[in-house]
Amino acid sequence: MSIISVNGVTKHYALGTQTVEALRGVSFDIKKGEFIAIMGPSGSGKSTLMNIIGCLDIPTHGTYLLNNQEVSSLDDDALAGIRNKEIGFVFQNFHLLARNSALDNVMLPLKYAGIEKADQITRAKAALSEVGLEDRMDHQPSELSGGQQQRVAIARALVNNPSILFADEPTGNLDSQTGHDVMQLFHNLHNQGQTIILITHENEVAAEAQRTNLY
Ligand SMILES: Nc1ncnc2c1ncn2[C@@H]1O[C@H](COP(=O)(O)OP(=O)(O)O)[C@@H](O)[C@H]1O
Ligand SMILES: [Mg+2]
Repeated sequence: MSIISVNGVTKHYALGTQTVEALRGVSFDIKKGEFIAIMGPSGSGKSTLMNIIGCLDIPTHGTYLLNNQEVSSLDDDALAGIRNKEIGFVFQNFHLLARNSALDNVMLPLKYAGIEKADQITRAKAALSEVGLEDRMDHQPSELSGGQQQRVAIARALVNNPSILFADEPTGNLDSQTGHDVMQLFHNLHNQGQTIILITHENEVAAEAQRTNLY
């Protein structure tokens, strides 16, 4: 069963009087439990594609089915609802709240989902343990290494049990050993059945996935 089905997706941006064609008819399917890489050089449209399949934006043309639901024509509120439930994001720059502890950062998606406070704490602690940070829960991002910050971001992305884990250049700001450790964590999650989409411009990173879509 396909968890994602993208068909003939284009994205045009208006830039003054010009139109930028960021995507020109992209089609592919991703099955539940797959670990795939989307690879291409800078400017090839990777982030544009991620915004569409991550329900942050809609295509200009084409269709996008997520869990058999057509999402390419939904309004912003409906997209936000699906995004919070179905998708966990990991970014190159971690995107953690600087003045919040690791635990508070990981609790945030549960708070948005209206989960009771005691459950937020229990589940966020479990997610942090899963990424090996049970002894760093009260640390703020500035008190953590880059690799540890990315682990917090991964715990935050997973705490809602999303259908898809989406990572845009997740090792881009990490040294090679730490990047390797983060990739190992993705492998462990994949072995537990997590569907993972990894966006990268690096061959070695893409080679870690089962399959690569080139742009
Ligand atoms: N909001 C925007 N407005 C206009 N052009 C954009 C916008 N976002 C991206 N683009 C253009 O679309 C193309 C693809 O960009 P992007 O998806 O960011 O590529 P990548 O992530 O692969 O580097 C580029 O030519 C970029 O300049
Ligand atoms: Mg990009």
